[in-house]
Amino acid sequence: MKVTIIGCGNMGLVYARAFLRYNIVNAENLLLAEKNEARRDELQQMKIGNVVVTTDKAILNSDLIILAVKPQDFTELAPKIKSLIPEKATVVSIMAGITLNRLATELEHQFVIRAMPNSPVEVGMGMTGFSAHPSVSIDQIRSVENLLSTTGRTVFFEDEKMLDAVTAISGSGPAYFFYIVRAMVEAGKEMGMTEAVAATLVKQTMLGSFQLINNAAKPFDELIKTVASKGGTTEAALTAFGEGKLHETIVKGLKCAEKRSAELSGS
Ligand SMILES: NC(=O)c1ccc[n+]([C@@H]2O[C@H](COP(=O)([O-])OP(=O)(O)OC[C@H]3O[C@@H](n4cnc5c(N)ncnc54)[C@H](OP(=O)(O)O)[C@@H]3O)[C@@H](O)[C@H]2O)c1
Repeated sequence: MKVTIIGCGNMGLVYARAFLRYNIVNAENLLLAEKNEARRDELQQMKIGNVVVTTDKAILNSDLIILAVKPQDFTELAPKIKSLIPEKATVVSIMAGITLNRLATELEHQFVIRAMPNSPVEVGMGMTGFSAHPSVSIDQIRSVENLLSTTGRTVFFEDEKMLDAVTAISGSGPAYFFYIVRAMVEAGKEMGMTEAVAATLVKQTMLGSFQLINNAAKPFDELIKTVASKGGTTEAALTAFGEGKLHETIVKGLKCAEKRSAELSGS
């Protein structure tokens, strides 16, 4: 398979490395199309594929093209590359907020897929939700799923509108966890710990809790009960959270993110 990545900044590079790591494509068949000259030089030195400019004719040989430029650069990019997209190629966009309809119209190409990854793709632990234009075949969807799964887990959504929820939950999700971790570390410091020690306690607790959630076939309420005994310390904290309406605040926050995602994509 011949793969082209257009826009090889942070995310483009993550995909290039992941595809090579899992032998989805070899370096000779990987084309990195990048506008920024300094970045092209950096990519050349990494020796991870053929580095070209955005309008290089070699793009005409691609089976699959990944668009990883910033959303605001798409309007300028589309007219430059639309004549270079082979008729049967699949185009996968990871640009936040650019709808399938916009991709298909501006690229004049029907085989388009829109994916919403999150930042843990950088360490192979990403979560990507994706949706496809109705013209895309099941085989194309499967093949793209294989590709995206080199950076973590993937979920396909029939209804593109669900990508706003994906953006709110897993797309922005890492920031919510960082926020909670920061608050817990702050609490540890106020109790007399150094930041490093508090961070160790919090990070390991987060990792261990994830393993419990992932392995225990128990509802969340029961998992909470296994830690929170009547009249104990955890219950004291949970009562304070309830008084501060933390649960409702989190749900409200995620709904605000979903709404903002819909606004940004104009849907
Ligand atoms: N980071 C995340 O967690 C995350 C999550 C979901 C989705 N995304 C999406 O991923 C996309 C890429 O994000 P990023 O953080 O990797 O951005 P980035 O580091 O800025 O990378 C984009 C690269 O594309 C280059 N570029 C711009 N216009 C181009 C063109 N016409 N042809 C070829 N290359 C071009 C840019 O060059 P210049 O620097 O010269 O402009 C830059 O090197 C965004 O659309 C974002 O919405 C990111």
